Amino acid sequence: MKITVVGAGAVGASCAEYIAIKDFASEVVLLDIKEGYAEGKAMDLMQTASLNGFDTKITGVTNDYSKTANSDICVITSGIPRKPGMTREELIGINAGIVKNVSSSLIEHSPNTIIVVVSNPMDTMTYLVHKSTNLPKHRIIGMGGALDSARFKYRLAEAIGGPISDVDGMVIGGHSDTGMIPLTRLATRNGVPVSEFLSDERLNQVKEDTKVGGATLTKLLGTSAWYAPGAAVSGLVQAIACDQKKVYPCSALLDGEYGLNDICLGVPVILGKNGIEEIVKINLNDAEVASMKESAEGVQKVNNLLEL
Ligand code: LAC
Repeated sequence: MKITVVGAGAVGASCAEYIAIKDFASEVVLLDIKEGYAEGKAMDLMQTASLNGFDTKITGVTNDYSKTANSDICVITSGIPRKPGMTREELIGINAGIVKNVSSSLIEHSPNTIIVVVSNPMDTMTYLVHKSTNLPKHRIIGMGGALDSARFKYRLAEAIGGPISDVDGMVIGGHSDTGMIPLTRLATRNGVPVSEFLSDERLNQVKEDTKVGGATLTKLLGTSAWYAPGAAVSGLVQAIACDQKKVYPCSALLDGEYGLNDICLGVPVILGKNGIEEIVKINLNDAEVASMKESAEGVQKVNNLLEL
């Protein structure tokens, strides 16, 4: 199993690290445009192998896509991250050109690859990869909901005052401060609806804190977060590489599902060796359907800025 991660910045390097630590891939290629940078990160990570107990071989390359040839899965993290006060949407001008070039270079050397898109604005970048590459739609997956759901669980556990391993929940919709839909109605504490433990007001606070999860960190760190994004990507990559058939909310190209067409938006999917094996249709209530529609409208506005 060969995996390429494009972009050796904080998110890309964290992806490579978590993938390696989970020890399911034979090889991870880290690629960056900055001379020697990916090589350095790869060497540093390889020097953790004996300490952390993994056998995954990580190599770094400077912009040489021939070294990524025959990758089973490629992760695109390239582009600029947001700065405090910026929305993910404001990155579109620079990141669209980068993501388009990166995806075509990857496919040139790995025509059968599955692509995981992380660059922001993620739902629009995922749509761009679909439109510019014409790969079968199950082979292009946007990473947002897995990260947002992890942040939702963190906030739920904090509010409940219990361990994160006891809570479960999912965030669907767009990966943006206004587009995320934390499904509080379906969230549970060890199988019991969280509404049994939290007031409507507290649950609403959890929802709002979740939606600005990335922005809160960007303000604290001065740039966007990397540990949880890296861990979320490694989860998706492992589900595909190990054919786990796990359910994750991911940005998928919709063709009528949830009443939406020709847009990439976060919905629950089953991930396995073919990438998106199935889009799971859950029954949403009227308020959740209205939120999905609003979220889709927000993503569509950003998609309209693309020059396709
Ligand atoms: C975040 C970025 C990765 O939410 O979108 O942290």
